[in-house]
Amino acid sequence: MILALETSCDETAAALITDEGEIAANVIASQADLHARYGGVVPEVASRRHLELVVPVLRETLGERSLDDVERVAVTRGPGLIGALLVGVQVAKALAWSRKLPLVPVDHLHGHVASLFLLPDPVEPPFLCLLASGGHTLLLDVRGHSEFDVVGTTLDDAAGEAFDKGARLLGLGYPGGAAIDRLARDGDPEAFAFPVARVSGLDFSFSGLKTALLYTVRDLGEAEAEGRRADLAASYQRAIVRALVERTRDAASKTGRDRIAVVGGVAANSELRAALPEASAAPLPLCTDNAAMIGSAARFVEAVPYPHYLGLDAYASAR
Ligand code: KG4
Ligand code: ZN
Repeated sequence: MILALETSCDETAAALITDEGEIAANVIASQADLHARYGGVVPEVASRRHLELVVPVLRETLGERSLDDVERVAVTRGPGLIGALLVGVQVAKALAWSRKLPLVPVDHLHGHVASLFLLPDPVEPPFLCLLASGGHTLLLDVRGHSEFDVVGTTLDDAAGEAFDKGARLLGLGYPGGAAIDRLARDGDPEAFAFPVARVSGLDFSFSGLKTALLYTVRDLGEAEAEGRRADLAASYQRAIVRALVERTRDAASKTGRDRIAVVGGVAANSELRAALPEASAAPLPLCTDNAAMIGSAARFVEAVPYPHYLGLDAYASAR
């Protein structure tokens, strides 16, 4: 059994995963409500909250089991908020060290991809993967369970960030992706023509879209914008989804992959899932941050033997 920890942003999460990729336990304590009043994640607040939540989350994850059942400890090493990551890394080191267990450092992005390798419906590489989250928008040529090349990325905002910034402009609170998704169901996606920048190659750009929404809301005026919120949400979502779908299909044909998958928080979006019916996607709770995906990735990463991981550091930026 692998005990996995994830604390890279505002979810304190732990999971137990078998070597076959079965989820034995999966616990997520979201801090979203805590950060909502600030309109976004406050790094120092997140670190402190991880400290408070990590032991209760671990206890709930183990349940009737004990650390005797754990053979390896896995943890997200980066990228993410450095203070938040350090809580998970230190706790994982302490747990592993106390039992003389090996430690598996996992890259968060590899974790999102590995959300597809869990039972009962594992997706086997190779495939072309769209990873769209609050921090990243990547097109990945996934060649193996732990081998992938970046073939496209965003030049500015991530897709999830575009959702969150749009939600903020529409007064929907933080994080706003799921709120836009819900509101868009009652709106007309053709009501407003929001442009999506066409950049060369397989890259994305979302910052102009957010500005277009800002100007549209300003031109409509407060009352009118309020009354047409569903149309605005639907049209804005349509523009993001269209860009993601176009580029993902382009990337699949350029890399010669005949299968497509979507992962990350934005993969929970209902319009995106409907617009890419041929794509594999993880179950909804495994799209947003969780530790099951970290345990899943750990199956394909070399463990660091006891006690050589004590000097291991977290990293904030993608590598
Ligand atoms: O993967 P994730 O939990 O965290 C990161 O690694 O960033 O992704 C969070 C992002 C947020 O930007 C959130 O607004 C977005 O995923 N998101 C959605 C939906 N659910 C979450 N965006 C669009 N539609 C959704 N249903
Ligand atoms: Zn994530």
